[in-house]
Amino acid sequence: MTPALLEIASLSAGYGEVPVLSGVAMVIRPGEIVTMVGSNGAGKTTLLRAISRVIGARGTLRFDGRDLTALTPEQVFGLGLVQVPEGRQLFDRMTVEDNLRMGTYRRRDDARIQQSFERVYQLFPVLAERRQQIAGSLSGGEQQMCAIARGLMAAPKLLTVDEMSLGLAPVVVDQLLGVLGEIRKQGITVLLVEQDVFAAFSVADRGYVMETGRIVREGAVAELEKDPEVRKAYLGVQ
Ligand SMILES: Nc1ncnc2c1ncn2[C@@H]1O[C@H](COP(=O)(O)OP(=O)(O)O)[C@@H](O)[C@H]1O
Ligand SMILES: [Mg+2]
Repeated sequence: MTPALLEIASLSAGYGEVPVLSGVAMVIRPGEIVTMVGSNGAGKTTLLRAISRVIGARGTLRFDGRDLTALTPEQVFGLGLVQVPEGRQLFDRMTVEDNLRMGTYRRRDDARIQQSFERVYQLFPVLAERRQQIAGSLSGGEQQMCAIARGLMAAPKLLTVDEMSLGLAPVVVDQLLGVLGEIRKQGITVLLVEQDVFAAFSVADRGYVMETGRIVREGAVAELEKDPEVRKAYLGVQ
């Protein structure tokens, strides 16, 4: 089997004395689109924070053959593990282009940055049209595009996207799901964290279900979709 790009095992993490995650295990292989679904407060964002070393964690955390537990958030980012954060977190007063440029700040391959701009503008033509517009004046969908594009400008190996669909119209969500498929074709592995299980399952190969800080189900999306508990709890099927 291909070696894992991301490997998590026996992971626990939380905030101060408050435990959130316990015994979390997860594997992502190169070229996959994997989703982590779960209700609000399940611990999905906490897991992403632990992966990116923003909060401390105990357990196994390996990316691309490297042990992440000794690294800083900047070093993790530099290895190509790049997050598109919940709520987009754009620099609202900066232009689209300057936001995208912020994604490149740790790159050392300046000659290829122009190529990355061309690629993301191809992926999101509306951002090309609005490259000089202030990011805070974009629609919600365009802001999400800008946040994903900024992540891509970092030349990620693994792009994590936290609550991509939140607050967006279904037609925009569909468009963004299509973009995730394109991103994968460009050789980038994707971890999509979502409350919208329908949307997530429509694009992912495999999924994990998190409840109160633990993984309660995992498998191919085609299998999870048949699981009676998953159907009842997350797909609204009785
Ligand atoms: N900064 C924080 N400090 C303390 N507790 C937090 C913090 N952020 C989240 N939590 C708690 O951790 C749990 C998991 O939250 P979170 O990871 O944001 O869930 P999700 O992303 O699945 O909605 C919740 O109980 C939440 O209240
Ligand atoms: Mg969250």
